[in-house]
Amino acid sequence: MDTKNNIPYSAPEPPRPWRQRPRRSRGLRFLTLGCLCFIAFAQWKQLSHQSSDAHVDEASPLGHGLTQHGLSVKQLREDLATCAALRRKARDPVGAGRERNARYIDGHAPTLIKNATVWTGEPVPGTSPEAARRGEGFRWTPADVYLEHGLIKRVEASIDASTVPPDTIVFHARGRPLTAGLIDMHSHAGVSTLPELWGTDDTNEMASDTTPYVRSIDGLNPRDPQIQAIKSGGVTTSLILPGSANNMGGEAFVVKHAVGRPDGRNETSAQDMLADPDRAWRYMKMACGENPKRVYGRVGKQGPTSRMGESWEFRHAFEQAAELKRRQEDWCAKAEGKGGIQKVKDYLPRELKWESLRALLAGQVKLHVHCYTVPDLEAMVAHSNEFHFRIEAFHHAHQTYLVPEILKRAYGGRPPAVAMFANTMWYKAEASVASVQAGRILHDNGLTPVYVSDNPVLNAQHLVFEAAKAHRYGLPYHAALASVTSAPAEHLGFGNRLGKVKAGFDADVVVWDSDPLSLGAAPVQVWIDGTAQFRDPVELKKPVGDLGVPEAAPRMAEEPVAKADVVFTGVKKVLFKKDVHGLSPSNNAVAVSQGKITCVGACARELEAASRSNIPVIHLRNGYVTESITAFGSKIGLSAIDAEKDTDNGPSGWSVFTRAADGLALDTIKTNASHAHGVTRAVTAPRLSSHDGTHHGSSVGFLTAARTPLDKGAVFASDAAVHYTLTTSAKSGETPSIASIIGALRAKLLTAAASLTSKKEVSPADVEQALLRRVVNGTLPLVLTAHSADTIAAVVQLKRSVEASAGTSLRVVVLGGAESHLVADELAAADVGVVLAPALTFPSTWDRRRALVGAPLTNGTAADALLRAGVKVGLGVEEDWQALDLGLYAGWVWRNGEGRVAEKEAWGLVSWGIDELLGLGQDAVPGWREGQFVVWEGSPLQGGTVKAVGGGRGWVDVWEEV
Ligand SMILES: *[C@@H]1O[C@H](CO)[C@@H](O)[C@H](O)[C@H]1NC(C)=O
Ligand SMILES: *[C@@H]1O[C@H](CO)[C@@H](O)[C@H](O)[C@H]1NC(C)=O
Ligand SMILES: *[C@@H]1O[C@H](CO)[C@@H](O)[C@H](O)[C@H]1NC(C)=O
Ligand SMILES: *[C@@H]1O[C@H](CO)[C@@H](O)[C@H](O)[C@H]1NC(C)=O
Repeated sequence: MDTKNNIPYSAPEPPRPWRQRPRRSRGLRFLTLGCLCFIAFAQWKQLSHQSSDAHVDEASPLGHGLTQHGLSVKQLREDLATCAALRRKARDPVGAGRERNARYIDGHAPTLIKNATVWTGEPVPGTSPEAARRGEGFRWTPADVYLEHGLIKRVEASIDASTVPPDTIVFHARGRPLTAGLIDMHSHAGVSTLPELWGTDDTNEMASDTTPYVRSIDGLNPRDPQIQAIKSGGVTTSLILPGSANNMGGEAFVVKHAVGRPDGRNETSAQDMLADPDRAWRYMKMACGENPKRVYGRVGKQGPTSRMGESWEFRHAFEQAAELKRRQEDWCAKAEGKGGIQKVKDYLPRELKWESLRALLAGQVKLHVHCYTVPDLEAMVAHSNEFHFRIEAFHHAHQTYLVPEILKRAYGGRPPAVAMFANTMWYKAEASVASVQAGRILHDNGLTPVYVSDNPVLNAQHLVFEAAKAHRYGLPYHAALASVTSAPAEHLGFGNRLGKVKAGFDADVVVWDSDPLSLGAAPVQVWIDGTAQFRDPVELKKPVGDLGVPEAAPRMAEEPVAKADVVFTGVKKVLFKKDVHGLSPSNNAVAVSQGKITCVGACARELEAASRSNIPVIHLRNGYVTESITAFGSKIGLSAIDAEKDTDNGPSGWSVFTRAADGLALDTIKTNASHAHGVTRAVTAPRLSSHDGTHHGSSVGFLTAARTPLDKGAVFASDAAVHYTLTTSAKSGETPSIASIIGALRAKLLTAAASLTSKKEVSPADVEQALLRRVVNGTLPLVLTAHSADTIAAVVQLKRSVEASAGTSLRVVVLGGAESHLVADELAAADVGVVLAPALTFPSTWDRRRALVGAPLTNGTAADALLRAGVKVGLGVEEDWQALDLGLYAGWVWRNGEGRVAEKEAWGLVSWGIDELLGLGQDAVPGWREGQFVVWEGSPLQGGTVKAVGGGRGWVDVWEEV
């Protein structure tokens, strides 16, 4: 290792006399020239020219020899030069006034984007800050945009082609929306290379709880294919953070998603991806709460084992850095004072371990802290005031909406932003207190919500979906768009360069196929530094629609009001399995009595009766009434908080076959939130292992509104289906390989087939064989969780061989199905249904590596391919929070189906379609689906708001506006 280049303090080049000027004018000169090249501590090649004249003169008689204290003059001069850099206050890099972007690669032609509809990211001139915060003055504006030398040069109503160079590339946007490239302020792309493999995972340095000294860029793999998938969602810039296992995780870097020659870059290199090659700011990741104590705490051996211990780890580390900073300042004061470097008895104190943390205390680092709970937030704010550093953003931060005032107490002025998910929650205790309305509440309290992916926790390709959901939950439109563009730009120090469509900004722009906050919106082209990133983008045939600034959804009460009888009016459309005839095109009523729908249409008699007997009549704006949603594949009903054993039924393991009905636990945050999102039914299987998306045993069908399993109608199918898991995460113990799992399953099925043909009795105590017998005779569905196309092929063969042996036909469903499109025709021929879970899959694991991510990279997704092939399809849940999005997933398939999928068919994918795939109902209590429906304002296929839910229990829950 070449220490000189690796020790960040070093200033390798000797001072050059012609650069020596008095300090003040030198500072100004640097500023004016915008020459920030000397900025990054980590790579200071340019730190050489800043020593004070006087001291050099004093030392010069000794040339490059030794001082009176026997120290190297050359080294001391380098140390002196370092002093200025140690004191440097970081500033946001300039935007306007640049002739070229420092990232611009010579030879790239300018681009003129004609006829776009532009969201500049700013309100019209003259809008006051208060009015702007409310969203006044923001609009979509028809404009042409000219990109040259990596910069946005002109944004004007019309730019004549004769006014730009002849080699300019002209792109016709045809009225479609254009925004700044999106910014993901929390990503692990490149350090958590996909598909996940041990050999390529470099997310956390787990040598110790406190590793501020490691750097994400040292593990950043530019060849991670996910970097391209993310860009296909319009994300052009990401903050690549180390993971959150450690209290202090290390340094982070802001990169752009243009990689190597195919993307118009000079070389394939992480350094080439840096959004600011001059590195004006450094970034750091820290984490509070559950992770560090879980990962590092060893009772009696090693802390932290508690949040108290974590605060000690933090404060102890800050103390070391503060101490280093003080020793350096003392040295610099002495070396720059009278007598100069001849006086000092030692070199500048250096400690690589605390160098980055020292830089944080010196105001050169933007700090991003993973912190969920009130005590975590409060402790971190206290540390910031004790040690005088700024917190740029709290990440995840589910509970910030409860305590905006704590954030405002943080050190250093502007309160931290809140970087979060729209509705991903419940995965651990600190994520179980959360609100889908957090974004709106924070905005109302003057704080800044930023939506992030935590890729690969969420697929950052769909970052804009997080903003869209936040808008659906009440965050104003302009703030939702800002939350993935200008707000993260500001909090990364790129407020002058990124996040807006304005002359002088970097030429990172996206032309979308539809309003970016509409479901399924996809880029038709993405530019980074003025270079188009996709050679042959797939463009869906899709109407642009009206570009307006829709109002945020009204604020709804957290708790519903129960009503047995009620009439809804203003119903524009109903989506039921059975067509309802004779409806008016826009204004129908739906009458409900004792929780059941008694009339759809004019309902004059019911309306009249209502007025007579004080039955409430609720008028809907753009009302929809649909059948309710079935959640399939989740742990809902068996688990309240994923990572907490006591709140969870637990994994069964392969050797034990259990019935979910025996572990059913209701009235949890998951059942209640699902119900409030229109999910009235769930079919849940026991979990095989600690992984989500593993199933083993018989599933139970139940109503999410039930309080206990003994409530009338609570369980409508006590054994809904028999489940096994064939994914890579199922390998363990007795079944260490995929082949052994399939072999064991075949043996069980053939045993059941033999007992069926021989009419041998099966002991009722052998639940597994008793149920498998019903599987083999075709009554109960066999649901096999699998993603790989190869494993799904094995399922098709397994079905054939068991059917041949039993002489029956099996009802088989694949749950998961990330690669099912590769065998779509065979699945249709074999009559094997597929429930896609998650509905929006991506190549996260090895067995999903061929998953389709959709436009502009692939023509459609698995759902499109399966529907086209005639496979019976449903949309399911892998992680429980996804139950909240099921209606949106249906809308996504409808919106992006190029007209091939009707509204009703799309809705069926999350409703009756699932019930039919599973053959539910044969077993169930009579009329088990009665009284289950959802009343919406706005189309549920376009993100409408739930107004009321009939949960099948004799009343309707109505949410009122507050
Ligand atoms: C790209 O490579 C060329 C040729 O090697 C070099 O002159 C230029 O400075 C490089 N540009 C950037 C932005 O790195
Ligand atoms: C802009 O695009 C729209 C949609 O394709 C088209 O109707 C309109 O004529 C175009 N306007 C100009 C000035 O090209
Ligand atoms: C995508 O596939 C569909 C169905 O095969 C086809 O009709 C359509 O033209 C394709 N679209 C593109 C852009 O290739
Ligand atoms: C299948 O088996 C179950 C239980 O053994 C039995 O009740 C049912 O009638 C059988 N159905 C058929 C179609 O054979």
